Amino acid sequence: MTRSPWAREYARTPDEYIWGLGPSEFARAVRALLPTGASVLELGCGEGRDSVFFATCGCDVTGVDVSAAGLAKAGRLARAHGVTVRWVRADAARELPAGPFDLVYSCGAIHYIPRRQRARLFPRLKALTRPGGSHAHVVFTDRRIYVEKGERIDYFAEGELSRIYADWLILRCEPAMIACAQDGTPHRHSVEQFIAQAVESPRP
Ligand SMILES: C[S@@+](CC[C@H](N)C(=O)[O-])C[C@H]1O[C@@H](n2cnc3c(N)ncnc32)[C@H](O)[C@@H]1O
Repeated sequence: MTRSPWAREYARTPDEYIWGLGPSEFARAVRALLPTGASVLELGCGEGRDSVFFATCGCDVTGVDVSAAGLAKAGRLARAHGVTVRWVRADAARELPAGPFDLVYSCGAIHYIPRRQRARLFPRLKALTRPGGSHAHVVFTDRRIYVEKGERIDYFAEGELSRIYADWLILRCEPAMIACAQDGTPHRHSVEQFIAQAVESPRP
C-alpha cells in the first residue's frame, strides 16, 4: 500500500513521538498565510504534530495518513491539546476527503507517492482547493539522496513542483538541507520548500 517505512516505525514506538510534539518550522511559516478558521487538509500527517498545531490556531483540520499507529498517536496529541482534528486513514494517492480546503499541506510525505500517481494527484488536490487557497509542501529532492529504513521514494527534481504549479502564483520555492538521524546515523536530506496560491479568476 505504501512505500514509506514510517507506519512500521510508529507501530514499533507507540509511546514516543519520533517527529516530536511541536510543529515543524515549515508549519509555523505556513500559518501566516491562513485566513481565520481556515480549512486545512494535511497529507501524510503521521503522528499529528502539524495538524494539531493548525487546529490549535483555530483551523478546521483533516489529517490523512496510511498508518493507523501514527493516527492513534495523533489522536492522543490532539486530545492533549484539547483540539479536534478529523483523522482519516487512507492512501492519499487513491482516496481524498471531500473539500473544499483553504490549504493543502504536506511535510515530508508526498515523495512516497509514485510519480505516475502524483501526476493524477495534483489536479485532484487543486480541484479540492478554494479560489485563492494555497498548497504548501516540503518534498525530498534528488540533489542529495540518503535512503533510510529501506524507503522507496520518487525524488522530486528541483523545479518539478514549479512546473506542476505553473498555473498558480508561486510564493516560495526554496531548496534546503534538513538534518535527520532516524536510522541512528546523522545524515542530511535535500528538500524543496514550496508554497503556491491558486489564482482567483476575475469576476465577469
Ligand atoms: C516522514 S513522515 C512525516 C510525518 C509528518 N508529516 C511530520 O512531518 O511529522 C511521512 C508520512 O507520510 C505518510 N505517508 C506515506 N505515503 C502515504 C500515502 N500514500 N498516503 C498517506 N500517507 C502517506 C507516512 O505514513 C508518514 O506518516
